[in-house]
Amino acid sequence: MSCIVEAAGIRFRYDSGFEALRGVDFRLCAGESVAVLGPNGSGKTTFLLHLNGILRGEGQLRVCGMDVEPRHFAAIRRKVGILFQDPEDQLFRPTVLEDVSFGPLQAGLSKASAETRAKQALAQVGIHDGWTRAPYHLSGGEKQRVALAGILAVQPEVLVLDEPTTHLDPPARRALLDLLATLPQAKMIVTHDTSFARALCPRAVFFESGRIAADGPAEEIIRRFRWEI
Ligand SMILES: Nc1ncnc2c1ncn2[C@@H]1O[C@H](COP(=O)(O)OP(=O)(O)OP(=O)(O)O)[C@@H](O)[C@H]1O
Ligand SMILES: [Mg+2]
Repeated sequence: MSCIVEAAGIRFRYDSGFEALRGVDFRLCAGESVAVLGPNGSGKTTFLLHLNGILRGEGQLRVCGMDVEPRHFAAIRRKVGILFQDPEDQLFRPTVLEDVSFGPLQAGLSKASAETRAKQALAQVGIHDGWTRAPYHLSGGEKQRVALAGILAVQPEVLVLDEPTTHLDPPARRALLDLLATLPQAKMIVTHDTSFARALCPRAVFFESGRIAADGPAEEIIRRFRWEI
């Protein structure tokens, strides 16, 4: 059976000449939750941005059975929901509701159905009002939640979350943990928060200098790399 993400030998060089990925091999199958760990600058974000074609390097990359190439971008972007490391990069519409409705509208839903989806997704992340607020006026944690709602509203097959807890207070982290635990999608979660990783992900991969240096049980990887404060 083919997996949701199948990556082999992914290499990527930024325009600066820096080689951020130096041969990444990775597979993610339905129902799996994988913590993506590793030091700052090791290539985690760079790799995630390959999954829906935002960045394109060398090697073989298939997502949901499709090669990641321009003719499949629209379909792939409905199946892979990427929460960016910086929520500022994700929010661009004048109101919260328009922002979260944008994905479902793009996917072809009517305005009314898209707004219903958006309100459901906002409720999932604990936002029950203030839909007409401007995203750029929100606090960091609120922005992060709205951005996540925008991903959930599209109901993708795989959730790719790049440090989703950075701006969240402890109760919001707990709520996110509880929410993610109930969602059936496959997940890739980049995080420096090992207790969060442990709670959600039986498996972890560890990035080092543009490669996956280890792939295995999260507990084992955290211990092996002494990946805790
Ligand atoms: N636009 C860019 N141009 C040149 N180099 C870049 C660019 N973006 C990232 N890099 C470099 O590529 C390397 C990998 O960056 P990446 O953002 O993938 O790391 P990361 O593992 O996500 O780190 P962090 O934990 O800090 O988020 C870093 O050395 C970074 O400086
Ligand atoms: Mg990063």
